[in-house]
Amino acid sequence: RVFLAAVRDEVGSIPSDVTAVGEMDRLSIEPVDGTGPSYYLRDHATWEQMREYFVHRSLYHLKEGDPHAWLIPRLSGQAKASFVAVEFDEYGAGHGTQVHQQLFADLMAAAGLDCSYLGYLDAVPAEALAVVNLMSLFGLHRKFRGAAAGHFAATEITSSPGSHRMVAALERMHAPQPCVRFYREHVEADAVHEQVVRLNVIGDLLTREPCLEPDVVFGIRAFGAMEERLADHLMKSWTAQRSSLLRPLD
Ligand SMILES: [Fe+2]
Ligand SMILES: [Fe+2]
Repeated sequence: RVFLAAVRDEVGSIPSDVTAVGEMDRLSIEPVDGTGPSYYLRDHATWEQMREYFVHRSLYHLKEGDPHAWLIPRLSGQAKASFVAVEFDEYGAGHGTQVHQQLFADLMAAAGLDCSYLGYLDAVPAEALAVVNLMSLFGLHRKFRGAAAGHFAATEITSSPGSHRMVAALERMHAPQPCVRFYREHVEADAVHEQVVRLNVIGDLLTREPCLEPDVVFGIRAFGAMEERLADHLMKSWTAQRSSLLRPLD
């Protein structure tokens, strides 16, 4: 309750004329002169800063797909079928070596980092925990299914262009191939996922339950608010030449 109240406070009031389609369109438009961690990593960051970024993201990517999977039993019809089709890809489409969680574990190992689940729980600040706790909160309560769907849509829509910048960053650093591979996989897969989620998951869900529209919008904005907090923390730390972690990496 405390966390949710803080998230609501951070998101603020949402005008009643804001639509899910409008929000998804907004997320699809990439600024020409964007700022934030993925731009910084692409153009300026050191390999050590990149490793810090992996550590922050490891809390989610080592269980990628799982927090959103709570949504499966809360959907029906086409929305459910299409949502499961996207999750099928997240879970490797029948191939254990292709499970996105495994691809991220391979990335961690290649970067000389611990790939055990929650291995860096004590190393990351609250900003990194909040992005993960938000999706678990939405997924664990049926009444938040609209917000969970919105959160999932925001994740998929922003992933492809962000991953594209990560590929460029890692190639600039001559990073090990498993590191590049995780993000390269997401450039193409999530461009497809975005369309499926927009039209067949959110579209169908709101046709069935139009009253969920404000919740979908809230889920999208809550995703943005928590990502922004983490981005602020990373940029403040890195531009001041400080570690963004609570303890040094070896
Ligand atoms: Fe993925
Ligand atoms: Fe995806």
